[in-house]
Amino acid sequence: MENEKTTLGLNLPTDPRWINIAEKQIADILIDHAFCEQKAATSGITLIVQYPEKTELVETMTALVTEEWGHFKAVLNKMKDRGIKLGKARKDEYVAAVNKIMKSGGSRQQQLTEKLLLNALIEARSAERFKLLWKNIKDPDLAQFYHELMVSEAGHYHTFLELAKLYDDSDYVNERWREFLIAEAEIMKGLEIRPDRMH
Ligand SMILES: [Fe+2]
Ligand SMILES: [Fe+2]
Repeated sequence: MENEKTTLGLNLPTDPRWINIAEKQIADILIDHAFCEQKAATSGITLIVQYPEKTELVETMTALVTEEWGHFKAVLNKMKDRGIKLGKARKDEYVAAVNKIMKSGGSRQQQLTEKLLLNALIEARSAERFKLLWKNIKDPDLAQFYHELMVSEAGHYHTFLELAKLYDDSDYVNERWREFLIAEAEIMKGLEIRPDRMH
């Protein structure tokens, strides 16, 4: 079960070479990370706007958006301490690729399940990356920071999966989740290791 724990249920662990090269470009990693937090907050807001009648979803997303925006602010503070400015958002090849795992069309409910599973997937991969950063980065202040984020994003991963099962059949959600994991592992194999990106 150690494998299960270290990869947060993901099918393919991150290439260990990523952490060595990422630490050397910490400014790029922090900038990219800030925008990952912004996108996580934006995604939560979008779900609220798209499914306002789903009370549990709205309440859960409201709390999640507050947390993600807190993360965004916290990353900005870490950057400020280090004299790093935000700059423009970069293209997120990982998110663009995993977006394509979602089935298009179908009912509004089917679309919700797809969206919740996509969010769960990105949270799980982010938590796995934060774990690598926490365990390997030499800067003790950032190591502590990444530990906190790993715990938070791993919680979000479970939150999204639970929401999917609240609104859809849990056997179907589990089956579809396995498909997401298989597809994501294939995507990870095909993406080059980027020293300047969170994913
Ligand atoms: Fe976050
Ligand atoms: Fe998150």
